[in-house]
Amino acid sequence: MSSILKSCAAIPADDDARPLPARAALVERLARVVPRAEIALALPQLERIAALKAARGAVVVAHNYQIPLITAGIADFVGDSLTMARYAARSGAPVIVVCGVHFMAESVKLLCPDKTVLLPDFGAGCSLAASVTPEDIRALRQRHPDSPVVAYVNTSAAVKAEADICCTSANAVAVARSLGRPHLIMVPDRHLADYVARMTGLEVATSGGQCEVHVKYAGTDIEEYRRVTGAVVLAHPECPREVQEQADFVGSTGAMDEYIETRRPPRVLLLTECSMADNVMLRHPRIEFLKPCNLCGFMKAINLDNVERVLARPETAIEIDPAIAARARRPIERMLAL
Ligand code: 13P
Ligand code: SF4
Repeated sequence: MSSILKSCAAIPADDDARPLPARAALVERLARVVPRAEIALALPQLERIAALKAARGAVVVAHNYQIPLITAGIADFVGDSLTMARYAARSGAPVIVVCGVHFMAESVKLLCPDKTVLLPDFGAGCSLAASVTPEDIRALRQRHPDSPVVAYVNTSAAVKAEADICCTSANAVAVARSLGRPHLIMVPDRHLADYVARMTGLEVATSGGQCEVHVKYAGTDIEEYRRVTGAVVLAHPECPREVQEQADFVGSTGAMDEYIETRRPPRVLLLTECSMADNVMLRHPRIEFLKPCNLCGFMKAINLDNVERVLARPETAIEIDPAIAARARRPIERMLAL
């Protein structure tokens, strides 16, 4: 199987997909969301990246917020931040290219310390991860001495090193419940913390950060969208409470994907990053996606050019101070053991 064909397999085909040669099948799939001229321009680069991956023994893991040319064109795995790290940890490949943001690449490195983990652009940060420091955690612990600390994976390794357990938006409620305590500290996202408090009835203190992308959905006239279009509304828990409360379903990018996969609503309003809808549409061309659409500039720092560059010259691999890594690995492993 060619590398390009393997990449296609990352996003399963539709029931009615015609058997086409690998390249033609990829073009047809991508053409659902990408102009054909853009696909034609990208194809030689997709082939070069496939060859570089094979030469380096590399796999590409991509987040749901990456563009379809990356998710369908070069990725071996596409998913949310939790499943990306799980896939990388199980992969036998010596080199992992992370098409996502810095904290995702750090999580992969923590779980795969012996692998070379490449992030195509070190400027791919995250406003949430940047909002909390190790000192903030120590100060919160002093204010709430009996509360365990849950660090959202959208944090640096240095912050994770201060935490008792990690969570993602996919498992935050289960992680909070697993602690068996009436109160906890959850950093850094105040909207996720608020969501967990409402779902569990627990007292949740937080450092009060927020995602600059999801917070933009505040003020969206969701009722008007629903009234005019009849769309089912899915929101990420990083959206403010007023948005979550108007949604039909609140969940991680992976949970939204599963909701659409199992229920197949005819029309969907996705309140999360723009590329999520494009990626789901690749598999569900008959579902109509409404896109009030906010872009994450950090996720969009990753592109085919810097993926090709980092594979051609893998000079800047992710490194984590071993003392921090040893402490940061524990809360991630505790989460994965749940
Ligand atoms: P998921 O964990 O749902 O993939 O989300 C990560 C993220 O950065 C959302 O903004
Ligand atoms: Fe961070 Fe928000 Fe971008 Fe996710 S969408 S990577 S939380 S800034």
